[in-house]
Amino acid sequence: MNIRILADGEAVSRAAADCIAALVREKPDCRLGLATGSTPVGAYRNLADRVRAGELDLSRVTTFNLDEYQPMAEDNPASYRRFMRENLFDPAGIPLSRTHFPDGSTADENGTCREYDAAIRAAGGIDLQLLGVGRNGHIAFNEPGAALVAPTHLTPLTESTIRANARFFASSDEVPRSAVTMGMATIFAARRILLLIIGRDKHDALRRLYDDTVDPACPVTFLKLHPDVTVLADEAAYAD
Ligand code: GLP
Repeated sequence: MNIRILADGEAVSRAAADCIAALVREKPDCRLGLATGSTPVGAYRNLADRVRAGELDLSRVTTFNLDEYQPMAEDNPASYRRFMRENLFDPAGIPLSRTHFPDGSTADENGTCREYDAAIRAAGGIDLQLLGVGRNGHIAFNEPGAALVAPTHLTPLTESTIRANARFFASSDEVPRSAVTMGMATIFAARRILLLIIGRDKHDALRRLYDDTVDPACPVTFLKLHPDVTVLADEAAYAD
């Protein structure tokens, strides 16, 4: 695991965009695994700016997002699909036909979860998976627990995640209590992982990357087992 501490969130966003842009230049039809939340927004803005300036073409990438709330209609303004359209796909010219999400609209979770993992494999696997981390150490919606789940699956959200994500909804009552998420094995199948950690709230999660343990009570620590992980964190998350 290569951990780089950078001055601030802007520097993290720029470095993340550099890394994604370099991959796309080398492999214009690469598969990107993408994350939602506040953390990657700066990197997405940076990528969209490069596309607008004519320095980068993202029109041939294929994307797979980590997760989606459940239940969640595709056209709901709080859906991750909508979030990604607004923050990356539309401004960066990524055709929606090349974007994929776990299905949060159906009760047939098991069938659609298996299909999602199969679709990733059929596309040739994810070349680069972008990740943020929750305050409680969750990645995607793999919440802390006695055991973690390997494939894409339906999961209940913890109270702390519901509270943290209430800012994207009118009130915390409106936050769905479940989500469909890539599992740990789905995430681990990515060739490279780029984890972004920005802000004081993420201090504990970042610090857990410096000891030698993997702990299901802090899912981000499992990334120590992956052979190619880069962490870009800011001073605010690092400082004591
Ligand atoms: C959500 C997402 C995660 C994300 C986390 C942190 O719960 N499912 O993929 O990493 O929030 O979000 P933020 O970047 O807003 O702190």
